[in-house]
Amino acid sequence: MGSPRCEHPRMSSLAEPTTPTPTDPDRPRYRIEAMTLEDVPEVARVERRSFTNPWPTSAYRRELGNPQQNHYIVLRSAEPSREQEDADSSSARSFGRRTFLPLSFGRRVGEEAAAKASPILGFAGMWNAFDEAHVTTIAVDEPYRGAGLGELLLAALFDEAGRRGANWLTLEVRVSNDPAIALYTKWGFTIQGTRKRYYSDNNEDAHVMWSKAISDPVYRHDLAILRHRLLQRIGGPVEGFPTEQPAHQIVETSGQPPWGSGG
Ligand SMILES: CC(C)(COP(=O)(O)OP(=O)(O)OC[C@H]1O[C@@H](n2cnc3c(N)ncnc32)[C@H](O)[C@@H]1OP(=O)(O)O)[C@@H](O)C(=O)NCCC(=O)NCCS
Repeated sequence: MGSPRCEHPRMSSLAEPTTPTPTDPDRPRYRIEAMTLEDVPEVARVERRSFTNPWPTSAYRRELGNPQQNHYIVLRSAEPSREQEDADSSSARSFGRRTFLPLSFGRRVGEEAAAKASPILGFAGMWNAFDEAHVTTIAVDEPYRGAGLGELLLAALFDEAGRRGANWLTLEVRVSNDPAIALYTKWGFTIQGTRKRYYSDNNEDAHVMWSKAISDPVYRHDLAILRHRLLQRIGGPVEGFPTEQPAHQIVETSGQPPWGSGG
């Protein structure tokens, strides 16, 4: 007997969001942007506060040197500090006066400086190869943890992986790193293997985790719901992070999950 003609569509495990996006849409609280070489010293400070075996700054410079394959982002507060606002508005005023340049030029320079001045709260990165995106790092500075920013960074990686035609995200995580394992599990990753003594500082094993196929409509639906809930939790839009899930560029894939089990 042939396989059943019409299967019941696999239902999403997540409930449809009921409440609309929060009422204060115009006040972005955070901004996601591409990591630049200028950011590396500050990223390195957060890195040292977040990892027991931190990457050297040279590693970030090398990664940023290959934007074709690599994608690195930083998450900043979109609300520059009061001092910074004051400092920049006065320099914008003086900038204009001193050199007769249009005031707007002085103001724009002030805004760019203010943007760059707002602290880096977290960062993330990945490598892209064919239909796989390999998450290489993700961290939120300790004082800002537990507020959904780790999810925001992961969701932004999903977006870019989809834009680049990846169909799966994968990563290694310390077997003892419960917060990170819980974060990835919440976004549909499962443990598909273990790398023995993977971490050089204490020979700790790594779990190898894989996402579900991003091209799977049920999974995409789940990701869209997680995104909606995340923006609700964060309390508004995020600069550089589309409210709606971007389209996914399908690249020819074998369809079989790379870990081969077909689970
Ligand atoms: C892992 C990390 C990025 C999570 O960032 P975060 O901003 O605190 O995470 P979020 O607030 O977005 O939490 C998202 C989910 O992660 C999980 N999680 C986060 N912190 C957790 C904790 N302390 N204990 C258990 N689960 C946790 C939960 O599932 C949480 O969902 P919930 O809030 O609905 O329960 C952060 O702990 C970190 O930077 N750790 C140090 C660096 C690191 O280990 N990176 C991962 C390398 S593989």
